[in-house]
Formats: sequence, C-alpha cells, structure tokens
Amino acid sequence: MSIQTISPKDFSAKIHSLWDKDWFLLSAGSFAEGKYNCMTIAWGWMGVIWNKPVVQVLVRPTRYTYGFMESNPDFTICAFPNQYRKALSLLGAKSGRDGDKIKESGLTPCKSTEVIAPSFVEANLVIECRKIYTDVLKPQGFLDASIESHYPLADYHKIYYGEILTLRGDPTLYSN
Ligand SMILES: Cc1cc2nc3c(=O)[nH]c(=O)nc-3n(C[C@H](O)[C@H](O)[C@H](O)COP(=O)(O)O)c2cc1C
Repeated sequence: MSIQTISPKDFSAKIHSLWDKDWFLLSAGSFAEGKYNCMTIAWGWMGVIWNKPVVQVLVRPTRYTYGFMESNPDFTICAFPNQYRKALSLLGAKSGRDGDKIKESGLTPCKSTEVIAPSFVEANLVIECRKIYTDVLKPQGFLDASIESHYPLADYHKIYYGEILTLRGDPTLYSN
C-alpha cells in the first residue's frame, strides 16, 4: 500500500462509516521530543468552515490525550486497514497514563510532514491538522434530552477544529 497526497477537494469516502465503523486514531504532542499520546476516536466530522477544510474532533477532559491536545498547536487523525482493528481497540480502551500502550498496540509512530504530532506507518489515511478553534460542549445547548445520558460524570467533550494542512491516503480508497 502506498499513500499519496490528496487534495481535500478530491477526498472521497463513506464518511459516516469511516468515523463510526472504522474509527480514527487521534494523536497530539511532539514526536521529535517523544512527548505525545494517541487514542481511538469515533465521534467527529470533516467539512468546511471559514473557507477552510476542517476536521472536528471531540475529547473528554478525562483522557490523557486531552493534556496533549491542550498544550500543543496541532494534531493528526489516522485511519488503518482492518487488520489493525485490535490495535485501535486497545488504544481506545487503555490509557497512555498507565503504560506504553502504543508499543503494546504494535503500531509504529512516525514523523508527520507539516505538524509536530506523530502519524503512523501502518495508516492508509493520514490527516494533519492545525488547531484553529476550541470550545466545550455546554449542556444548556442540548436540545435533545437523551444527549445528557452520555455525560454521567459531567465530563463534557472539548471540541477542536483543525484546519487540514495535508491529507495523505491510499488513492484507491480515498480519491475519486
Ligand atoms: C471506538 C472508540 C471510539 C472512541 N471515541 C472517542 C471520542 O470520540 N472522544 C473521546 O474523548 N474518547 C473516545 N473514546 C475513548 C478513548 O479512546 C479512550 O478512553 C482511551 O483509552 C483514552 O486514552 P488516553 O487516556 O491514553 O488518552 C473512544 C473509544 C473507542 C473504543
């Protein structure tokens, strides 16, 4: 598998399936300094705001990754072939706070091209983003009462919009 740069305008995917079924790995921190973490995510989206191609991710403040998202200017999201499903499950169940879960997952972090956050050698899609907006979900804004059931600990997600600086993927899967 070789991944190539794809313009966000030419990016094509079953977007709901990509988030909800296939999942992404969100990474933040400095690869060069060896200070980073990652976690599996399934909630988020891609689109356009302020005329920029943007990814939105949502991170609960209880995640170890949250500190890295807060104190660094950028992040990456990576998708993987199905053979790495077990690794994504592990990275979404264990915390980097408790040990080297990345090593345990068998995935290989590597340098990104535009951001300090790592990407992953095994990924078939890498999206490098620069944070441009953050906010915290506010329960006053929930217009559907069932949403509150996701927050028994009141750990409302922090939202991060990341401008897509570069997107690389397997063109047979992600380009039309
Ligand atoms: C499929 C899946 C999707 C997830 N999506 C999110 C998400 O969108 N936002 C979030 O805060 N946590 C999400 N999580 C939970 C984190 O990945 C999980 O708590 C992880 O262990 C946090 O790792 P960390 O403490 O090293 O940051 C998800 C977990 C799984 C398995």
